[in-house]
Amino acid sequence: MLRSMGAIRRDPLAFLASMRSSYGDVMQFPIPRPATYLVSDPEAVRRVLVTNARAYGKRTLQYTTLALVTGEGLLTADTDVWRTQRPVIQPAFHRASLDLVAVHVSTAVDRLLSDWSARDGQVVDVDAAMMHLALEVVGSALFGSDLSADAERLADATLAALEVVVKKARSPLPIPVAVPTPTNLVLRRAVGRLDAAVDAMLAERARRPLAAGEPPRDMLDLLLTVTSEDGTHLTRAQVRDQVVTFIVAGHETVASALTWAWHLLATHPAALARLRAEVDAVCAGKPVTFLDLPHLPWTAAVLDEVLRLYPPAWLVTRRSLASDSLGGVAIPTDALIVMSPWLVHRDPSAWPDPDGFHPERFLDESGGRRRDVAALPAYLPFGAGPRLCIGRDMALLEGVLVLASLVGRVDLEPVGRPPQAMPLVTIRPAGGLPMRVRTRKTPIG
Ligand code: HEM
Repeated sequence: MLRSMGAIRRDPLAFLASMRSSYGDVMQFPIPRPATYLVSDPEAVRRVLVTNARAYGKRTLQYTTLALVTGEGLLTADTDVWRTQRPVIQPAFHRASLDLVAVHVSTAVDRLLSDWSARDGQVVDVDAAMMHLALEVVGSALFGSDLSADAERLADATLAALEVVVKKARSPLPIPVAVPTPTNLVLRRAVGRLDAAVDAMLAERARRPLAAGEPPRDMLDLLLTVTSEDGTHLTRAQVRDQVVTFIVAGHETVASALTWAWHLLATHPAALARLRAEVDAVCAGKPVTFLDLPHLPWTAAVLDEVLRLYPPAWLVTRRSLASDSLGGVAIPTDALIVMSPWLVHRDPSAWPDPDGFHPERFLDESGGRRRDVAALPAYLPFGAGPRLCIGRDMALLEGVLVLASLVGRVDLEPVGRPPQAMPLVTIRPAGGLPMRVRTRKTPIG
């Protein structure tokens, strides 16, 4: 393992792939404690996440490090806290919120288009643009479309804290946060700023509460009004943790998928032409809306295939709470289970031509989007089982709307060398994704 440290840091995805091809679908790393396994067999992964999910928790280095920023938000909360919180928070992701997200997407897309029109013919960083767009969408969904200075401060503080956490996670020595190292001090300050920003945001909301009978204006209103079975509201700390979690979990993931979508479309002209033709036939030059979504199966399949090839959440980890058996290998209690959707999605026994871009995999015989996508055993961009991504529908809606809204309005031409996938919090192109942007005179066709 010590000899492999260089390879792990240089290219973690290639390292994981080499471990799997050399040692098989369930392999143990030679690390004394905790016993650590890389599990890539789709059936075994399903067992951990779905059929025997009760035997696994989230007390892993991956999630405890992230929890330094997100606290006990849904993503990082371990079993007991999570069990009480998920049903309370679920309503914030119901249909009414998704309708609102669609409105926020079109505002963000218009802003991006006006920026790109002003830079017609120039090279832009599509990765940075998608990060900005996704942050704007999740920010508006949480705090309303009139993004106040408080909301911007909160998003900035979250990202600053996340950056320190990523740096900390990459350090070979896991130094406890209480030790005043320079990184820990920066983290402490960043989290302090984050808490102050949440306080300001909640104080502002308290000044303009919902009138009796007024529907929630955004997800923050929903979080402030949801009640648990015993009639209690979320505490201030719980609201803080969920807000920060949604920014962290719902921003870079969507941006990463969209960035890779533009790269793959630009390098697969037939898929791009089909996408444009579909949008043209359905929307005929009018803005794409929520109601158009069921009629855009190819666009949805493109996004499904992007998420297969470049799953933003490339690593999912669990801690075993009981002994188990995975793919015939005995797993002790308190073992660390590492699963990589990147590997599972490129399993040749489940996906013919696994490295190829073939959105048609996700269509049925009649050309509609396959109904069983969420149940495919070797497909888990949003995880699976009880801890399935709560934002899945929101992310798919946002992704399809952004692709369909932009594809007829701009041409994005690759420049420079093909991007190299760099797995950080999500998989991002190393050095961004420079592309030449040209606005289209005839929007579609
Ligand atoms: C393409 C975009 C997205 C991808 C690929 C993605 C991926 C994932 C994955 C793989 C998990 C499961 C992690 C695990 O089992 O350990 C997850 C959980 C979660 N995601 Fe997403 N996500 C996306 C978008 C979003 C959005 C938009 C939000 C919210 C605004 C969100 C919020 C969450 C939360 C709160 C959880 C924890 C759910 C729970 O444990 O109950 N995600 N996501």
